Amino acid sequence: DWNMPDYISEAVEMIRQQVGSDEVILGLSGGVDSSVAAALIHRAIGDQLTCVFVDHGLLRLDEGKMVMEMFGKNLGVKVIHVDATAQFMGHLAGVTDPEAKRKIIGREFVEVFQAESAKLTSAKWLAQGTIYPDVIESAGKGKKTAHTIKSHHNVGGLPETLNLKLLEPLRELFKDEVRELGVALGLPPEMVYRHPFPGPGLGVRILGEVKKEYADLLRRADAIFIEELRNTKDDDGQSWYDKTSQAFAVFLPVKSVGVMGDGRTYEYVVALRAVQTQDFMTAHWAHLPHELLGRVSNRIINEVRGLNRVVYDISGKPPATIEWE
Ligand code: XMP
Repeated sequence: DWNMPDYISEAVEMIRQQVGSDEVILGLSGGVDSSVAAALIHRAIGDQLTCVFVDHGLLRLDEGKMVMEMFGKNLGVKVIHVDATAQFMGHLAGVTDPEAKRKIIGREFVEVFQAESAKLTSAKWLAQGTIYPDVIESAGKGKKTAHTIKSHHNVGGLPETLNLKLLEPLRELFKDEVRELGVALGLPPEMVYRHPFPGPGLGVRILGEVKKEYADLLRRADAIFIEELRNTKDDDGQSWYDKTSQAFAVFLPVKSVGVMGDGRTYEYVVALRAVQTQDFMTAHWAHLPHELLGRVSNRIINEVRGLNRVVYDISGKPPATIEWE
């Protein structure tokens, strides 16, 4: 039985006791867990918290802007925005293997975060949005390795060499409790109830080599898809965004022929993926209404120059995974 206002005041009190007058840094990813952790810690210690937001250039459309607006402007949290796009793109150039891409993104993320944190010399604590399922998962890690299909590198991973004490105020919470807490702390519900987004971001949604040009096209297609899902309601009044567990666009580095006016086009393809699942271990492809799919396809092809074909992924998991890489 859990009472939110009581929970918040207890958590705030505990954080204050734990850190005293020390300074705390936190890696903000734009995801739910680190966002809620930031909001809670900020409620407890205000300006003693500094967030570092590493933008790897593989985020969704306007995500960086939204994070800065919500935390910096609305909540008054100190946030350092590091645009490391060039560095990430540089290291990813020529790399096509999915696991190699994950490793590079994870490694660079830690490196950029660490370099930025090292400048905050007065910080004594590193805060993380670790939640209860993460605690369980890492406790069982040794057993699972034989069956690891993807490394699932979470770029929120911890730089161990910083010599900071760990502050993990969400360690005992389940995901739905974290979401409730986030809303109670004033985070927008549409942010707190967002579909999961993988740590390597669009890096695993651009098949093969990652290029900024591809990421820019993908971001726009993905934003159109998500906007239409949010704006289209099923008969029961629920939006298709809320009816699906995860939905996104995937960039295929393949060109196909199309016609536009009097001309012939030769441009890239995007695939749309939308799944329904309880646990993300197995998933069904979502039976989205054909009108919705048609509208998304028309908009993407009309609005995003460089894309001339849209396909819908009708593969279940297993055998397909949710992400394409
Ligand atoms: P798959 O593709 O394995 O995905 O069916 C299952 C869930 O995990 C997410 N996913 C990741 N999350 N880092 C993450 O933080 C990753 O490297 C990664 N790969 C997949 C995926 O988005 C889905 O929710």
